[in-house]
Amino acid sequence: MRDRQPEGKKQRRAGKRWAAIKPVLVSVAGDEQPLVALSTPLDVESLVAGEGSWEVELGFGKGRFLLAQAQARPEVRFLGVEQATYYYRLLSRRAARQGADNLVTLRGDALYVLSALLPAGFADAVHVYFPDPWPKNRHRKRRLFEPETVDLVLSLLKPGASLWFATDFVEYGEWVWRILASYPGFELRRIEGPWPGGPRTNYEAKFVEEGRPILRLEARRSRQPPPLHPAGESGILVAPR
Ligand SMILES: C[S@@+](CC[C@H](N)C(=O)[O-])C[C@H]1O[C@@H](n2cnc3c(N)ncnc32)[C@H](O)[C@@H]1O
Repeated sequence: MRDRQPEGKKQRRAGKRWAAIKPVLVSVAGDEQPLVALSTPLDVESLVAGEGSWEVELGFGKGRFLLAQAQARPEVRFLGVEQATYYYRLLSRRAARQGADNLVTLRGDALYVLSALLPAGFADAVHVYFPDPWPKNRHRKRRLFEPETVDLVLSLLKPGASLWFATDFVEYGEWVWRILASYPGFELRRIEGPWPGGPRTNYEAKFVEEGRPILRLEARRSRQPPPLHPAGESGILVAPR
């Protein structure tokens, strides 16, 4: 029978699963702080002093966009979330070297960070560039843009703030378009051609060079959206109070 494994093997497997759950790390201008010392929802205002607006990038990879923006617009505060420790450390080190003290980096799974840590409605812009498309059906729940997860991403936005999105996985991009188009309270537009300043991220630069089609869009929060995406309610296990 499948379940009859030696106890030791079962325990090793369970151990592996726990090992995969890593603590969230937070770094401000390269200076790492343990999250346990911080309150939840995260008091983002205490991380970077000032009055500047906030922009968030989810899955920043090598961090080209955040670093360039943090340097070009020192009056704005930036927060990036990346699950790969290697990339989180890479950007944190670069931020420290370049004195980008308006840049906060978080190492963690964006879905967890959005649902458990970040406050709602604090961002003037959310950037998601070339997110993993998870094309297999059984992996779809890991996507940032599914009817059941899209609320987490959009809830970061203030009224009038925008989500900026790009993907080379055009089928996924069209799916994201449909999800956003069916979400009341958002104005949606495609960006035809490249961004005015050229490629924003490493993936984009590579794909532009290769001549791959890229779908770029902006979704602007025009008014109070409903608490849940209309198609996402069926996937919610606990109703919001
Ligand atoms: C295809 S790469 C794109 C990187 C970058 N945005 C770019 O355009 O160059 C996707 C990135 O998202 C990160 N990522 C994937 N799923 C994530 C999640 N759930 N939370 C945070 N980061 C995630 C990956 O580690 C990877 O760095």
